[in-house]
Amino acid sequence: MAEGTVTEELERQIIALAPWHIDVDVTPEISTGSVLEVGDGSDGSEGPEGAGPVRFVRPRKTWDEVLQRIYPNGLEGRRFMECACNCGAYTFWAKEMGAGDCYGFDVRDHWINQAEFLLEHRTFPSDGIKFEVNDLYDLPKAGMEPFDVTMFQGIFYHLPDPITGLKAAADLTSELLIFDTAIRDGMPDGMLALAEESRTQVMSGVYGLNWFPTGPVVLERILRWLGFVEVKLVHWRVNRRGRRGNVGRVRILASRKEGLLAGIQTVSEPRSQTGAELEASEDLESADAEQTQTQANVNTSGGNQLEPDAAAPSISEAFEETDRTLRRLLRYLREANPEPAEELAQEMRRAKRQLRANRELLGEAPDAKDDGSSA
Ligand SMILES: C[S@@+](CC[C@H](N)C(=O)[O-])C[C@H]1O[C@@H](n2cnc3c(N)ncnc32)[C@H](O)[C@@H]1O
Repeated sequence: MAEGTVTEELERQIIALAPWHIDVDVTPEISTGSVLEVGDGSDGSEGPEGAGPVRFVRPRKTWDEVLQRIYPNGLEGRRFMECACNCGAYTFWAKEMGAGDCYGFDVRDHWINQAEFLLEHRTFPSDGIKFEVNDLYDLPKAGMEPFDVTMFQGIFYHLPDPITGLKAAADLTSELLIFDTAIRDGMPDGMLALAEESRTQVMSGVYGLNWFPTGPVVLERILRWLGFVEVKLVHWRVNRRGRRGNVGRVRILASRKEGLLAGIQTVSEPRSQTGAELEASEDLESADAEQTQTQANVNTSGGNQLEPDAAAPSISEAFEETDRTLRRLLRYLREANPEPAEELAQEMRRAKRQLRANRELLGEAPDAKDDGSSA
């Protein structure tokens, strides 16, 4: 197949597999983000009915930095596991950093189909990577060899029994657990706060009941109880006045080897973020928590009722909403009639450039995600 045709076919398949959550380079020329034309930090795409909105993030730079600080010589053949792997982005990046055998699993076919597509078509190292549809709770049944490094991100707060879920992954981890979760801010630390979430939205859990840790302390205690000897909080963000409620985020590194995290700084105070700052956050992965919280706003009651979404939409938000709608229309049109779709895409790019310029004139800085450097 001619080179142009191969690229077009890859682009067609990326669009067909949407919604995507993470920007992953497929070839040196194209990435999921470049094909979907999501460069402004707005939601990536709407999926099939009931899938719910899926926010698009670009976490690679931050992730590379975290890993390089711990393993300056790369992963040197370490076995790597990614729990709730979504499209498997971190698994691919671990492999590029020298990981040995890698295993990624997610409970949803939707994400594993994306991971398999990337495994087949990415023009980067991919030997010894395995993906499969699996529920975290079924991990102990699989009888697997331990992994040196485990990624446990964006999953703790989607579980009806998060400690059992975390233990399943921790018991298979012999060196380092990279743990990242949304937290419920505005309550005393040391607890898990009950919530409810969708079972069908593709970024959520599948059980309907979930728990938000109320701060890093409760998590550090659980991780120590699971046998990790060094536990370091490396990121802590709160969002007390955010338009989507009081969601925060923490990232904790937990090691079974004394000294592995010696060079890593611990964070002792939360960083406060609101509104636009949150949108431009450099979290590895952040927005799904807000989505869950939004869901929780509808479903929880009494003490668990989260703050309502009070703020009126800003110009940025209105811009992003319109942009989302246009991109959906474009996707449908592309499938039905590619030629006018291309013309429309060009017009949209022109209009977006113009809108960005207008936003600057109005004093609304374009989203920091435009430079592709944040999650
Ligand atoms: C918020 S997303 C996080 C995705 C990815 N880990 C990241 O950090 O970008 C939650 C992911 O967990 C998956 N998931 C939810 N419940 C699960 C379960 N019980 N077992 C395995 N995966 C699950 C979802 O399908 C979704 O891909």
